[in-house]
Amino acid sequence: MPPETPRKLKEEEGNTDQALRPASWDAYIGQERIKDNLRILIEAAKRRGEAADHLLFSGPAGLGKTTLAHLVAKEMGGSMKVTSGPAIEKMGDLAAILTNLNPGEVLFIDEAHRINRMIEEVLYPAMEMRKLHVVVGKGPSARTLLLDLPPFTLVAATTRENLLSQPLRSRFGATFRLGYYNSAEIAEILSRSARILGTAIEPTAINILARASRGTPRVANRLLRRARDYAEVHGKLSIDEAVSMGTLELLEIDELGLEPQDRKLLEIIIGKFGGGPVGVGTLAAALNEDRGVIEDIYEPYLMALGFLQRSSAGRIALPAAYDHLGVVRRGDLL
Ligand code: ADE
Repeated sequence: MPPETPRKLKEEEGNTDQALRPASWDAYIGQERIKDNLRILIEAAKRRGEAADHLLFSGPAGLGKTTLAHLVAKEMGGSMKVTSGPAIEKMGDLAAILTNLNPGEVLFIDEAHRINRMIEEVLYPAMEMRKLHVVVGKGPSARTLLLDLPPFTLVAATTRENLLSQPLRSRFGATFRLGYYNSAEIAEILSRSARILGTAIEPTAINILARASRGTPRVANRLLRRARDYAEVHGKLSIDEAVSMGTLELLEIDELGLEPQDRKLLEIIIGKFGGGPVGVGTLAAALNEDRGVIEDIYEPYLMALGFLQRSSAGRIALPAAYDHLGVVRRGDLL
């Protein structure tokens, strides 16, 4: 057989991602308070025969914001149109999406903090009054057409709520902040995913993978697939303790889920800058990494572990980070 191209592999992962995505509230593990709130909000809207209020989901990547949006759309009995902030390049792109919505439909905008500010202004009357202002023509003959839009629910997702403009933020009827899942929830997600994939996994292996999953279902499912590969290649019938440890070692992921770049980030702050504070721009240059990736992926988890603090002066490594890396703090020896 010819070797598979990366693209094919990516598509296959995309397919299993789809297969693992919960299709009902009952199958969705964790985020209990958010689910309770959403159920009430949706049920009330349905009883009134209205579209649900516009919703904002914020939180780190991979926690299930898109999945929740799918569940909201399903519950409202309709379909969902999907786009993202950077995909809406021109006013016409947004106008086309909005005028093509079916009554009661959900419009999901991912990466909402990357919506262009000019385009955002078109969203305001659309969200508030279901009106679309379209400018036709140029110069003195330009006119504004006012189009009526069908009732719809805008569901926006962002990893950076603080980057959303205040006028946009204030137009959502409810904002839900998704937090990291605890180990028990991740363990339950791993069990469910293993069942769906038809892979046997031992309880000790579940616990090891759960601890290394960064409180993030997407990471947990990715580790599970890698462990399944590892078991298969080593002729094991189930994912056991040795398989899960071997998988993490191969991926250079430690028992808390830190990857080489996470450790390097902490080592730079501690080794080169005496523990901080260090500006994020300096860290980005030292790590040769995009500043946005540092802020969106590495830092939120390191902060959740109590390893890192963001201050106005920069990033500071906390005592737990020294302990984890096995570094002796200056002063401890005195
Ligand atoms: N897969 C990804 N996120 C999940 C969740 N919250 N519950 C169950 N399965 C998931």
